Amino acid sequence: MFPCDFAWGAGTAAYQIEGGWQADSKGPSIWDTFCHKKGKVFGDQTGDVACNSYELWEKDLECIQQLGLTHYRLSLAWARLLPDGSTGHVNQKGVQYYNKVIDDLLACNVSPMLTLYHFDLPQALQDQGGWKSPSIATVFDSYAQFCFQTFGDRVKLWITINEPYVCAKLGHEDGIHAPGLKEPGIAAYVVGHNMLRAHAMAWHSYNSLYRPKQKGAVSLAINSDWLDPLHPDCAEDIAAAERYFAFTLGWFAWPVFVTGDYPEIMRSAIDAQSKKLGYSGDSRLPSFSKDEPAVLGTADFFALNYYTSRKVKAREACEQVLCMKSDRDAEEVLDPSWPICGVSWLAVVPHGLKKLLKYIKDTFNNPAVYITENGFSQVGPLQIEDDQRSEFYKDTIFEVAKAIGEDGVNIRGYFAWSLLDNFEWSDGFSVRFGLFHVDFSDAKLTRAMYHSGREYAKIISKYKSNQSG
Ligand code: GAL
Repeated sequence: MFPCDFAWGAGTAAYQIEGGWQADSKGPSIWDTFCHKKGKVFGDQTGDVACNSYELWEKDLECIQQLGLTHYRLSLAWARLLPDGSTGHVNQKGVQYYNKVIDDLLACNVSPMLTLYHFDLPQALQDQGGWKSPSIATVFDSYAQFCFQTFGDRVKLWITINEPYVCAKLGHEDGIHAPGLKEPGIAAYVVGHNMLRAHAMAWHSYNSLYRPKQKGAVSLAINSDWLDPLHPDCAEDIAAAERYFAFTLGWFAWPVFVTGDYPEIMRSAIDAQSKKLGYSGDSRLPSFSKDEPAVLGTADFFALNYYTSRKVKAREACEQVLCMKSDRDAEEVLDPSWPICGVSWLAVVPHGLKKLLKYIKDTFNNPAVYITENGFSQVGPLQIEDDQRSEFYKDTIFEVAKAIGEDGVNIRGYFAWSLLDNFEWSDGFSVRFGLFHVDFSDAKLTRAMYHSGREYAKIISKYKSNQSG
């Protein structure tokens, strides 16, 4: 039931694994700056060393081979390639590092999927306004073109920006991710807008300048939970779930896949709230300019990061303050029957993925879909024999198979998050998503396969032999 060229992958991101934060003239990123401030990250931990993949890449490659992956998703550290973010100064050591990673993967018959931006903006660009500044879009486009030019002869799958929702909301509204800004109700919409503009420009550059020769595919990775109304017969809850979808998945997928503009429910909710609170001026949700490359149609596939599901209900009382939560005016609830794994937000709901995939097929015109992230975390005491996680992978991949077989969703690949235990953003190293355990207390940072890794390897090998047979 899995197509014969199905991508069996796992993913990582540069800041979460590479370390070498100053090695060989790398420039600082906003995550370097954020983690070096006290009180921002669990235990004041940082990604200064992380899994030290900058030096231990070959160990990672061994892990990839042990799993039998056909694909590996990694991100490029923008400031490792271009220390001040601009193409004026290229760090050749950074280019060499990623060239080696790509060449080693290909030599082992593993296809790379490269993410250009996974949360780590060069600090020099943040100092010029970062994602809030409209000019960031053209700077990103130059960086993207540099990457297509440098690596695109060998890389055929590209993600421009990973989870614009998370960058915009957690980084600029809640302030719990770098750059740590708390500017509720305004900045996140501007950041999301500039990310969409940047993505669209990069896609158009690829499409006209690189695709004819390189023949690859480009998208952006959109995170979404599956959302059900808490009371399926209650009109307010149904409307609340629709609004919630519009403010998460719809915010980024609607402009790219459906209309070239934000979902109407999102704009009207924001504008109504502005009016209620006496906020004058233009809509807080920016508009796309007709003079810029269109955002509609700028994805060659749908890249979905799915972790969990929620029930949604209408809110009883809405704070009278400007913020995204009051704009969205919908509340999420956890179903007590769903087990929680590791972190409080991650309820284990594999069947939610099947529903979400069907929703994507129906709403976004049956796109090719890659599940670019999906995983299950554990917190201490750690279990190498992590049976619950093994079950999770089996159940989830079964749901993916059903989405293909029963619902006809055009799913092209599945990437487990993550290859290795790594630096889990504001949770530091306290939350572990790896298929491989990393011993952070040992200078060698030894990698050891979890039981769930063995299980995933078995699943891959079973389906690969069915596919070829
Ligand atoms: C995603 C993110 C990953 C990883 C994962 C697990 O939002 O893209 O980098 O941290 O969540 O929480």
